[in-house]
Amino acid sequence: MTLFDLTGKVAVITGSSRGIGRAIAGRFAEHGAKVVISSRKAEPCRKAADAINAEHPGAAIAVPANISSKDDLQNLVDETMKAFGRIDICVCNAASNPYYGPLAGISDDQFRKILDNNILSNHWLIQMCAPQMIERKDGAVIIVSSIGGLRGNAIIGAYNISKAADFQLARNLAAEFGPHNVRVNCIAPGLIKTDFARALWEDPETLKRSTAGTPLRRIGEPDEIAGAAVFLASKAGSFVTGQAIVVDGGATIA
Ligand SMILES: NC(=O)c1ccc[n+]([C@@H]2O[C@H](COP(=O)([O-])OP(=O)(O)OC[C@H]3O[C@@H](n4cnc5c(N)ncnc54)[C@H](OP(=O)(O)O)[C@@H]3O)[C@@H](O)[C@H]2O)c1
Repeated sequence: MTLFDLTGKVAVITGSSRGIGRAIAGRFAEHGAKVVISSRKAEPCRKAADAINAEHPGAAIAVPANISSKDDLQNLVDETMKAFGRIDICVCNAASNPYYGPLAGISDDQFRKILDNNILSNHWLIQMCAPQMIERKDGAVIIVSSIGGLRGNAIIGAYNISKAADFQLARNLAAEFGPHNVRVNCIAPGLIKTDFARALWEDPETLKRSTAGTPLRRIGEPDEIAGAAVFLASKAGSFVTGQAIVVDGGATIA
């Protein structure tokens, strides 16, 4: 048994068919957890679960869910309970960003979609998972926010506002759930090589510009976010709550 052991734990991870969520699911399974793979599309979820089960038999199931649907999220929780009987770790990882440009040009629908998917849906899923964690006096909630939530930006303002709100969501729920030994934290990734950020790294010149001010002078890999999630989910992180762990190659300090 190590500080990072997750044996016997069950984790629900939204947006885990690829990218950061997929990397977190893989590392959770490697550390002994059962994982529930989820995204909007069934087939990629099934493939991701199959790949994890090939390495860790019986560790993963796939339950598609669009985070914008409360019914889908309830089904995600219900199916997890049917399969594994408990939820110990809830990772709110999926998010949306349908608008690029100054805030003056964003439509109300686009703004609402960002706030709904990146804040309200996290609140929904956490409220669905928390009661059993509170009852057992043990649980870990992790919200994948962004360093965008620590900065102003002329192009992705609404997204950054939603990610800043996630920091406060974590702080607030940490205060509410703390007496029940349920911890709530954020991870704030910098630029990571996933589909979500493809526009910032696909072209070598753009990538150079995107990472020029980053001390490590490079983009991060999805797997480099997974370690922080394992830390926050496990005994290693047992006294950490309400925090945002920045994993950005130093981008925010330079
Ligand atoms: N990549 C970066 O540079 C970066 C930096 C900071 C923060 N982040 C944050 O990291 C998180 C994960 O992003 P990523 O970079 O790993 O993105 P990604 O590689 O594009 O993966 C996104 C995942 O979320 C799923 N998804 C998208 N919309 C969804 C919805 N409405 N409901 C449920 N699932 C949905 C996708 O699958 P489907 O398409 O099948 O639904 C996929 O599994 C996000 O919260 C993002 O804001 C990313």
